[in-house]
Amino acid sequence: MRHVISLFDLTADEIRTVLDLSIKLKQQLRDGEREPLMQQKTMGLLFQKPSLRTRVSFETLFNQMAGSTMFLSGDVGWNTREPVQDFMPILTGYLDLLVIRAKNHNDVVEAAQFSQCPIINGLTDVSHPCQALADVMTVMELCDSPQETLITYVGDANNVAYSLAVCCSRLGIRLNIAAPAGYQFESSFISSLNVESGNDFISQTDDPRAAVENASFIYTDVWTSMGQEAENEKRVKDLADYQVNEELFKVAADGARLLHCLPARRGEEVTSSVIDSPDSAVIEQADNRLHAQKGLVVWLMDQVQE
Ligand code: CP
Ligand code: NVA
Repeated sequence: MRHVISLFDLTADEIRTVLDLSIKLKQQLRDGEREPLMQQKTMGLLFQKPSLRTRVSFETLFNQMAGSTMFLSGDVGWNTREPVQDFMPILTGYLDLLVIRAKNHNDVVEAAQFSQCPIINGLTDVSHPCQALADVMTVMELCDSPQETLITYVGDANNVAYSLAVCCSRLGIRLNIAAPAGYQFESSFISSLNVESGNDFISQTDDPRAAVENASFIYTDVWTSMGQEAENEKRVKDLADYQVNEELFKVAADGARLLHCLPARRGEEVTSSVIDSPDSAVIEQADNRLHAQKGLVVWLMDQVQE
């Protein structure tokens, strides 16, 4: 049974196949074609954290392909009403596909062990693979040669940055991460990606100005992710020099674009002047959540049938 809990679950060729399919399905939707590829299938969404983009894009893409969806949250009582080994085989026996947004990454890994249908990670504290697929799809659409571009991620090296790093490394796209000490990735994570790819596609620094020089994309995300609210005050202080504002943006390459997974905290990691400017690609990026995930769903369901 194939699951997509991390982008490590997909080879580079499989990521490329998913993205090619996503681009094709996006064009088909624009042409008014809605093939009933998920007819008589049901997708569940089991969410322990709030969501707008992930929930609505998954529900919409599945409905566009004539499938049905079911949103589940606290009622399931994951490990409170009943243990995962009791409810997960039953839930996934009813369903054809399950998207999980969980507080703890290891809970999704554990859930997959008891699952009878494919699971897609819709965000955990560690990773956000669906976001990274949409991010890279956006980069591919906005630049002629992704292999020659530089993405600089500025801020907290969090779940979004983690999946972006894995995706960029697998696809040979350069990503530079600018984060202060304490908010960086373990250097062993960066070096393991570079050893695996045989190239230094991923780098990390604590200097945001140096990191954005020559960057064609500046990416940022909130400094305080869901579940870290108690650390908010300290994080805002520690990350203050990593705000993506007009001054930092001017250091980047001409024509550089802003990426942000959203939701944003305006005035913290990004200023309104940047996110509302014509340089911002955040709406196209969010739109691609639907298309990238549609490609992923169609590809994953094909794996089940093979
Ligand atoms: N970017 C993202 O995953 O948004 P939501 O939290 O609204 O789903
Ligand atoms: N890093 C953020 C992403 C939200 C889509 C969080 O985990 O809250």
